[in-house]
Amino acid sequence: MTHYDPLAAQAAFPTDFIWGVATSAFQIEGASTADGKGLSIWDSFCRQSGAIADASNGDVACEHYKRWEEDLDMIAGLGVDAYRFSVSWPRVRPTGSGEWNEAGLAFYEKLVDGLLARGIKPYLTLNHWDLPQALQDGGGWGNRDTVHRFVEYACGMAERLGDRVVSIATHNEPWVMAQLGHQVGIFAPGLKDRKLAAQVSHHLLLSHGLALQALRAQGCKAQLGLVLNLSPMHAATDSAADRAKAVLDDGRVVRWYMDPLFKGRYPQDVLDDLGADAPQVQPGDMEVITTPMDFLGVNYYSRSVISAGEPWDVRSSGREVTDMGWEVYPEGLTELLLRLHRDYPVPPLFVTENGGAFKDELNADGRVHDAGRTRYIATHIAAVDAAMKQGVRMGGYMVWSLMDNFEWASGYEKRFGIVHVDYATQARTLKDSARWYRDFLQQQRAQR
Ligand code: NOJ
Repeated sequence: MTHYDPLAAQAAFPTDFIWGVATSAFQIEGASTADGKGLSIWDSFCRQSGAIADASNGDVACEHYKRWEEDLDMIAGLGVDAYRFSVSWPRVRPTGSGEWNEAGLAFYEKLVDGLLARGIKPYLTLNHWDLPQALQDGGGWGNRDTVHRFVEYACGMAERLGDRVVSIATHNEPWVMAQLGHQVGIFAPGLKDRKLAAQVSHHLLLSHGLALQALRAQGCKAQLGLVLNLSPMHAATDSAADRAKAVLDDGRVVRWYMDPLFKGRYPQDVLDDLGADAPQVQPGDMEVITTPMDFLGVNYYSRSVISAGEPWDVRSSGREVTDMGWEVYPEGLTELLLRLHRDYPVPPLFVTENGGAFKDELNADGRVHDAGRTRYIATHIAAVDAAMKQGVRMGGYMVWSLMDNFEWASGYEKRFGIVHVDYATQARTLKDSARWYRDFLQQQRAQR
């Protein structure tokens, strides 16, 4: 702990550093068919038996679609600079290609105006995984046409909100969509096809670059970028096999995205490993993918420890482990940020997600004493500070998540919020971590 003293960290943060909280549409909104919303691949996936741990779905979630004003007041009460949220593509364009849904657009317009009225900067993500089911029926992200539907969606949203949102991220965690959705099959659309997953990753990157170009051509003034899930890959032992596997996994998760975005090529070791499953890349695609970004979002939760044999036992390091089974490893964030800064010509970096799931209890005193989460957040903020002190350009830090919500295949069993949600009553209660974050931000502001 002493190594990462969060109080010591405070002095270094510049006055324009952005502090925020984050959510995504499918995880909080509910109202899955309200006001003309179309279905997304997650609506469908939740209906497959065995797909979600508690057999739940996003139909109600946190009822944010209904309670958005109360939620915005709560966000304002935390004293954050920014709120990162996503737009549900099928809410604004139900089939992904036909008519736009005015009621859906109006919802996000109210949300953005409500944020601005409260002095909070809107950070919008276009694709946080909820692809319109109708597009999936036509091949989804495996079909190159979806790339163009996404660009239309990006342009439509920017036309409507581009003058008021501070930032637009095209995709959230393309690796997760491609791999967990199309190769491992534990996330929507639940497919298991390595070649398809590789093609999906290419189409996600291509659509990102094309969207950036289209938005800039349209005169969109928002900061444009992409959000990646990245972590350092450590070999479990010094054996040649473990070390080689760690390098390959780094290629698959980190370099597979960073290299095309900043160097215009896929990493050769991963291409060799994919062999005939490598994606089809058309002439000009790589130039599009390298379109400069205004920021790069990094979602960080833990390091990965890679073993060529039996999976590494997370308990073996003696570190704290969260309710997701993820090791608490804050110095991995410093290591990662330094590495990105060293190996790539990156724009300012944002930690767009960081946080932990813990077994929270709402006490009789109406409080949630989530000391583990506070410790997690404080030590990771200190890890960001450490990276900045070594020269990394950082734009901000956002906690995942504002409130407990639908944690994908884990359903509602895992709680990441700094605000507790009682799903029976939809009551929101600030956990101790939210109070800590609020006080921390107040101290930050006092220093400005
Ligand atoms: C990353 C995802 O973007 C977010 O949706 C998810 O809830 C968190 N990680 C926690 O797993």
